Amino acid sequence: MEEINRARALLAGAGRIVTFSGAGLSAESGIATFREVQTGLWAQYDPTELASPEGFARNPALVIDWYNDRRRKLSSAWPNAAHEALARRDDLTHVTQNVDHLLEAAGAARVLHLHGRIDSDRCHRSCGFETPVDIAKPPSLRSCPRCGAPMRPSVVWFGETLPSVVWEMAVEAVVAADALLVVGTSGVVFPAAGLIDLAHRSNTSIIVVNAEPIRSPANVRLIGSAAELVPMILPE
Ligand code: OAD
Repeated sequence: MEEINRARALLAGAGRIVTFSGAGLSAESGIATFREVQTGLWAQYDPTELASPEGFARNPALVIDWYNDRRRKLSSAWPNAAHEALARRDDLTHVTQNVDHLLEAAGAARVLHLHGRIDSDRCHRSCGFETPVDIAKPPSLRSCPRCGAPMRPSVVWFGETLPSVVWEMAVEAVVAADALLVVGTSGVVFPAAGLIDLAHRSNTSIIVVNAEPIRSPANVRLIGSAAELVPMILPE
């Protein structure tokens, strides 16, 4: 309880709050995380086959079918109490590694998606063509209408660089923040996880909410459910 009070006091006293989230934020909406031992996606599937340019070159239809399964599951998911508590505050900037739309569905206005979005497709050759996808009825493997290259989800795969404008905006927001609220991430995927270290170097207070302890700097660590803890610590 003392830790909850400390987190609440830090957030209440912070003028500019930035959130940094990962798959644990959406876990209680029924969306699988990546690294949990039994249920995590990377425990069941091989990321080099399904989330890399090399895997896509080897078997593009397999990759698209896997993303389309995730899209269909996401189409019936709803924001949970953590998304809702974050979205209630319209002064926050949300930096997320999540490719889902659940923060936006809860009403959050300023969301920076470091790893892209699953509800959009883009040309794999980067001719610039990009188009929204109906995640309830996603299209099978198809070609770019502009240049004929295969279309792929607008997400970042292993070995690819983050969208530079989004990354720069995230860095700027973290450097200027008084508090960074880290929710539901293992903090092991870089460069995204480097934002926590950046906050530490910038003397930003860091509050970590996660189901298990993570190795990162933090002023307060709360171990438990995001949907329970975030509404308890974030003043409306
Ligand atoms: P991970 O699966 O690595 O970590 C999710 C974290 O959330 C774990 O530490 C869990 O303990 C925690 N967690 C699970 N359920 C929770 C809950 N209900 N409340 C609070 N915490 C909970 O997912 P990410 O850190 O998001 O990248 O992974 C980072 C990146 O790795 C992803 O964006 C993805 C993946 O490969 C790309 O696809 C590029």
